[in-house]
Amino acid sequence: MSINAGLFTHFESLTFDDVLVVPGWSEVLPTDVDTTAKVSNLVMKVPLMSAAMDTVTEAPLAISLAREGGLGVLHRNLSVEAQAAEVDRVKRAQAGMISRPVSLGRGATLADAEAVMAAHKISGVPICEADGRLVGILTNRDVRFCGPEDDDKSVTAFMTSEDLVTAPVGTTLDEAVKVLHRHRIEKLPLVDDGGILRGLITVKDIIKRVEKPNSTLDQHGRLCVGAAVGVTDTAERTEALAAAGVDVLVIDTAHGHTRGVIEAVRTIKKGWPEVKVIGGNVVTREGVDALAEAGADVVKVGVGAGSICTTRIVAGAGMPQMSAIHECAMAAREHNVQGAPLPIIADGGVVTSGDIVKAFVAGADAVMLGNALAGCDEAPGDLELVDGAMWKTYRGMGSAGAMRGRASDRYGTAQNQGKHVAEGVEARVRYAGPLHELVSQLMGGLRSGMGYAGAANLDDLRDRTRLTRITGAGLRESHPHDVDVLRD
Ligand code: XMP
Repeated sequence: MSINAGLFTHFESLTFDDVLVVPGWSEVLPTDVDTTAKVSNLVMKVPLMSAAMDTVTEAPLAISLAREGGLGVLHRNLSVEAQAAEVDRVKRAQAGMISRPVSLGRGATLADAEAVMAAHKISGVPICEADGRLVGILTNRDVRFCGPEDDDKSVTAFMTSEDLVTAPVGTTLDEAVKVLHRHRIEKLPLVDDGGILRGLITVKDIIKRVEKPNSTLDQHGRLCVGAAVGVTDTAERTEALAAAGVDVLVIDTAHGHTRGVIEAVRTIKKGWPEVKVIGGNVVTREGVDALAEAGADVVKVGVGAGSICTTRIVAGAGMPQMSAIHECAMAAREHNVQGAPLPIIADGGVVTSGDIVKAFVAGADAVMLGNALAGCDEAPGDLELVDGAMWKTYRGMGSAGAMRGRASDRYGTAQNQGKHVAEGVEARVRYAGPLHELVSQLMGGLRSGMGYAGAANLDDLRDRTRLTRITGAGLRESHPHDVDVLRD
């Protein structure tokens, strides 16, 4: 039973603007609160995920958000190969130790090496015998003064091979930093007892870690990333995305309490038991139960709450988001996944940082954002100047534009029968600058809300914070009123 159970009755549903967090006894400062969320295999210092939408999440946003401490979910309005390549881009963006470094054989020419370095955007490449034994390393420094006349020459003529600095497998990052510094080098190949190349640690990756200590990382020190799959292409996409190293899959549907979604969860769990699955979207206790029983590791909540959604208008179906989160969170607590309650993600309708605070109080473990991130630099699409203001395109994945040219199965049977009834709009949002700034504003709001609630961490916020229902007059009072706002 939650502290707010009395507020959420069975026949009336509430959303963000219907409620406020009641300020409570507080001994915590916003700067000291812990916002870490544990969602299945992910530990996120910033409990925010980006929506799997083609105007929100591709590799650049997923990289930036994971570096801030959140998680990007790559959209699936792409071919299977292209989506897997996006996963690969994120996974290669940064590494603790690169376990499968790109390398070349003795027979390669300088032109080959330059092509490989340009294609992978890397500044050096180890050179190995056919059996993998390391014989040298070729870096930008070795070829700085080479010209076209050297193109056909062997890499062995230029590589550094004498006094090559290497370290054994198992070298920690701290030990690697010392070796890199002692020898004033930028790349440290790791070799086994037989001299076979087993990994590479680079200064660039170490600097990235130091710059962004909150990053969401996997066990190899690579950025974490999620990706969407549908119900008609589940196995094919899962195969490719898992091979590319995806950390979590999201079954991306508008209605997750369906046979198709339950079967998709089972397909993944049976064929790829090691892959974590987020199932959704649902808004009821029964929906959570069905997904949990099918084996979902996380459940995503929200139908029709998204800022670009028209599901509630077109289909007359949905559930105001605060009630949906609360009901699903209560149900999720009764399911145990590897010793912890089933986590839920609140997806849709979150526009302000205050909404994020309220979503956690209702029971969310993480919050998914579309609108709130679509205006940032890293989101796909160009800036548009309209009437002196800068905008970026933001459209529903069920909008006519997003569905055109692909076999959409997100919006149910009408589409599958070829009728293409749109359940989303094509729109634009204000340009919002770099993601880093946006995330610090949103997290500043979350921290502030936790301060008012007296919550030292997200568990406190969920378990001990009271909400109150407000009226229309209360909502008017909540916004700036009786003034002419000069600056927002
Ligand atoms: P926000 O409010 O952050 O919501 O913009 C993003 C979420 O909206 C969902 N989504 C849609 N829902 N029609 C819908 O009814 C659509 O075309 C559509 N596109 C996205 C999705 O759950 C997303 O995360």
